[in-house]
Amino acid sequence: VDDIAAFLDGLPQRPVTPAESVRQVRDALGGDGLPQQGAPADLLLAEATQLLFDHSLFNGHPRFMGYITSSPAPIGMLGDLLAAAANPNVGGWALGPMASEIEAQTIRWIAELIGYPTTCGGLLVSGGNMANFVGFLAARRAKAPWDVRAQGLLAGGKQLRAYCSRATHTWVQKAMDLFGLGTDALCWIETDAREVMDIAKLERQIEADRAAGLLPFLVIGAAGTVSTGAVDPLPALAELCRRYDLWFHVDGAYGAVAALLPEATADLKGLALADSVALDPHKWLYSPLEAGCTLVRDPQHLVNAYSFHPEYYHFDNVEDVAINYYEYGFQNSRGFRALKVWLALRQVGRDGYTEMVRQDIALARALYDAAAAHPELEAVGHSLSITTFRYVPADLHAGGTAVEEYLNRLNTDLLTAIQTSGKLFVSNAVLGGQFLLRACIVNFRTALGDVEAIPGIVAGLGRDLDRTLRPANLVHASSTPSSSLQESQT
Ligand SMILES: Cc1ncc(COP(=O)(O)O)c(C=O)c1O
Repeated sequence: VDDIAAFLDGLPQRPVTPAESVRQVRDALGGDGLPQQGAPADLLLAEATQLLFDHSLFNGHPRFMGYITSSPAPIGMLGDLLAAAANPNVGGWALGPMASEIEAQTIRWIAELIGYPTTCGGLLVSGGNMANFVGFLAARRAKAPWDVRAQGLLAGGKQLRAYCSRATHTWVQKAMDLFGLGTDALCWIETDAREVMDIAKLERQIEADRAAGLLPFLVIGAAGTVSTGAVDPLPALAELCRRYDLWFHVDGAYGAVAALLPEATADLKGLALADSVALDPHKWLYSPLEAGCTLVRDPQHLVNAYSFHPEYYHFDNVEDVAINYYEYGFQNSRGFRALKVWLALRQVGRDGYTEMVRQDIALARALYDAAAAHPELEAVGHSLSITTFRYVPADLHAGGTAVEEYLNRLNTDLLTAIQTSGKLFVSNAVLGGQFLLRACIVNFRTALGDVEAIPGIVAGLGRDLDRTLRPANLVHASSTPSSSLQESQT
């Protein structure tokens, strides 16, 4: 614990990542076979500590802004240690009495935090993919007019269809594949330039599919898309689902927590109307990996979708108000994921989360403004705590095929340069054919100074790359009056 505390104190001084090759990391680990004999625990822990602290990418680093993995709350780290020590099996109430109750309380608190009915059912899972899967299968069971669990997908004679925006995370493809519907039965609905779903197109598609004898059953709305943080008009989607008797699932793996803010938009707060919501504590509740969460408005839908009663389980002797979590989801034996989430919720409360989430969003806005003010950066978008931008050399004017192709190549290489620099870690988005840099701030360690450093880091690396990559037909302005003129001539 002392080593961990020292590591956390010194985190800002370390590189975000040592950016080593696979070979270097394997060599550091050593390639010996399984030890024949044991070794002292203190020695092993010291060695493992060194291996991890010297050869990891740190998503807790104040300048880690890639993908959506938060800085882990220290109390969550201790929570995992304590959970492993008590080691309850939170599959059956009798096997983890206090742990089951803490999980149930955590679910109610998360629902309360984001404005979802606290009478919902729910459980903790490993992450966003699994949280969305839990809702997906509850929807399939609830909306297929035949007993799909017993008879399978073909028995109804109609193909089940699901709908989501083009910007939906890839979990939805896995779900369609894994649960037997097939990815062709997924209908991607176009978005506007901000990645928000076009509801008029959705409704026309549902009508057309019904007319063609297909069976629409599920609409997925986004509360924060993975690339840009876009939020679909959730109240309007809820109303449409009610009219067409469809299950309304919200993928809020990233953005649902932002609904806790009093200033959150009505579109985001509309997640309260969903039949099910997926939300990741290991994203915006700052839990250490892994922690995802599914909330389902009517808990009975979870039991309907997942429960079996094998004779070798004898849990009937516990009062029927008890939740046996194996009946709520995929897992049978279950670890105590809820503890780390519960501890963090207690440690900072609603006020603490309001402050941290608000701060992340403000920092992402500050980054957008800083990019907009920089002569070599183009600020593209900001939603929730995601900002997209790209490097555009000062003498190049964006637009035109050759320039855009070059900017895509330049920014693709720039991303690698940034990620391996150790100074900053961002990821990418592709919008309208443009390769963009993308910073996502879910990090209570990130401060304004970290954000203000970004334009300088990106422009410096961008300039270096531009000097070596620029093709001859896009010569510098110093040698031609207008590079776009030069391009149109070519
Ligand atoms: C909107 C959204 N849904 C689902 C996921 C998948 O979450 P996980 O990686 O925890 O499975 C992500 C991950 O970034 C996401 O942003």
